[in-house]
Amino acid sequence: MMLWLFLILPVIISVTSRSIDIHDKLTPKTVSDRLIELVTQGAFRGVTYYRLAALTDTIGPRLCGNESLTQAVDWVRHAMIGEGLENVHVEPVQIPHWVRGAERAHLIQPRIAKLSMLGLGNSVGTGPNGIQAPVLVVRSFDELDIRCEEARNKIVVFNPQCDWVAQPVGCYGPIVAYRAGGASRAAKCEAVASLSRSAASHSIDSPHTGMMNYDPAYPKIPAASLSVEHADMLERFQQRNQSMEIFLYMEAHTLPDVVGYNLVAEIEGSTLPNETVLVSGHLDSWDVGQGAMDDGGGAMISWTVLSLLHSLNIRAKRTIRCVLWSCEEFGGIGADQYFTAHENEVPTMSIVMESDMGVFHPRGLEFTGSNKSQQIIQTLSVQLQSINATQILPGGGGTDIDPWVERGVPGASLLNDNANYFAYHHSNGDTVNVFNSTDIDLAAAVWAVYAYSIADLDNLLPR
Ligand SMILES: *[C@@H]1O[C@H](CO)[C@@H](O)[C@H](O)[C@H]1NC(C)=O
Ligand SMILES: *[C@@H]1O[C@H](CO)[C@@H](O)[C@H](O)[C@H]1NC(C)=O
Ligand SMILES: *[C@@H]1O[C@H](CO)[C@@H](O)[C@H](O)[C@H]1NC(C)=O
Ligand SMILES: *[C@@H]1O[C@H](CO)[C@@H](O)[C@H](O)[C@H]1NC(C)=O
Ligand SMILES: *[C@@H]1O[C@H](CO)[C@@H](O)[C@H](O)[C@H]1NC(C)=O
Ligand SMILES: *[C@@H]1O[C@H](CO)[C@@H](O)[C@H](O)[C@H]1NC(C)=O
Ligand SMILES: [Zn+2]
Repeated sequence: MMLWLFLILPVIISVTSRSIDIHDKLTPKTVSDRLIELVTQGAFRGVTYYRLAALTDTIGPRLCGNESLTQAVDWVRHAMIGEGLENVHVEPVQIPHWVRGAERAHLIQPRIAKLSMLGLGNSVGTGPNGIQAPVLVVRSFDELDIRCEEARNKIVVFNPQCDWVAQPVGCYGPIVAYRAGGASRAAKCEAVASLSRSAASHSIDSPHTGMMNYDPAYPKIPAASLSVEHADMLERFQQRNQSMEIFLYMEAHTLPDVVGYNLVAEIEGSTLPNETVLVSGHLDSWDVGQGAMDDGGGAMISWTVLSLLHSLNIRAKRTIRCVLWSCEEFGGIGADQYFTAHENEVPTMSIVMESDMGVFHPRGLEFTGSNKSQQIIQTLSVQLQSINATQILPGGGGTDIDPWVERGVPGASLLNDNANYFAYHHSNGDTVNVFNSTDIDLAAAVWAVYAYSIADLDNLLPR
């Protein structure tokens, strides 16, 4: 572990320290212009992508409870300290420790074939002998209720449909309901396992994992996702009245909770250090692909906000705090504990920002807050005209910041061209390749301009 740290860290530090005197060469008008220039043309051009690739190539995906997540926290923490950021520290939280173990699924009838599957987070395993059973495919919970008796002793396959082209993001919630709740609904009908169609907009036979939950009223049965292609194939077997049998083997299990860490760094405010603008992303990911899109990118642009200000030696009136959350994927676990520990900061928090929907080409901001604060954000948006990222849409939020937003703190997320987000999400396709370095720089610029200019307003954003 130490070896890679020493190999990579000097590169990061030298990349970032090279930038220290670069602003002398810039001829900017405003701080926002200087931030945009530094990250799109100056010494920070490409640095965010570089950091993301270095982190996710070296450590890989960072499952909650896995040592890789702790390694990632150490890696970023050391780099932040080396760079000279302020108040760099971790805040311990208690996080779950689910282990995937070996897993596989085979179609036994009508032909023998390997099925593309991924166990779902929190699922139990099948036991050492696996489970072999006939199959019932349903498209909805309503259909399952009608066919409940048929489901007994079978593996239930949920194959819900949605027009992802028409609503690339809107489909996610309704489809995830089956991933999250399908196992207990199937168990209610005495099924022996539950397989669900991946919550994915596109698929090249790649399964997409994610979190599931058990309803304590029913027995816990194993739950996995199937690729879109295989879920549809099973449905076609059923439509042709061909009898189907599947063998499922999963070693998944949950170990006792472990200690995880929210990572914090700041640029302290010049005149109102007691008031805060929070920028964030989550450092944990699923254990497939590289966790670069969800949410390495959001974490990295939040870090870049501080790097840019530090490099330009600029302080806003208020403190800008970067928090990299632990264990978002199992339900905002680290962020919930952060909120509990920092609830006293609700009155001093101007805005909470989380980027967790990709750092593709940015368009602006999604914002939730009072009409008055919306008008202020609208006014600030003109500073992003040079990079055409002035759009403001409603709906700013994110799993990790929602506790604050629910308490009335304004919330924001990055508006970006993420129509393909759910093609890669929670799958082996979530690698650094999905991103474009230039677009990440632009995303970091949007993030930094809003963080800085909100932190430098005369007043807190009105509630
Ligand atoms: C972490 O993940 C790796 C790869 O999946 C696995 O081999 C290892 O056992 C995991 N460690 C823990 C502590 O769960
Ligand atoms: C499948 O079986 C059902 C019920 O017996 C029947 O109504 C339907 O026509 C059959 N479909 C095909 C394609 O054979
Ligand atoms: C922060 O401190 C300043 C100066 O002490 C004070 O005027 C301001 O009201 C404080 N902010 C909040 C939100 O309490
Ligand atoms: C600016 O962005 C908007 C969307 O936010 C887009 O419709 C428009 O085409 C862009 N303009 C240019 C010149 O790229
Ligand atoms: C906020 O703006 C919306 C839309 O412009 C309007 O319908 C609503 O009444 C406003 N709310 C307040 C409290 O002014
Ligand atoms: C990367 O993004 C920039 C800015 O949006 C664009 O000009 C460029 O063509 C993109 N590169 C690729 C390989 O898509
Ligand atoms: Zn995420």
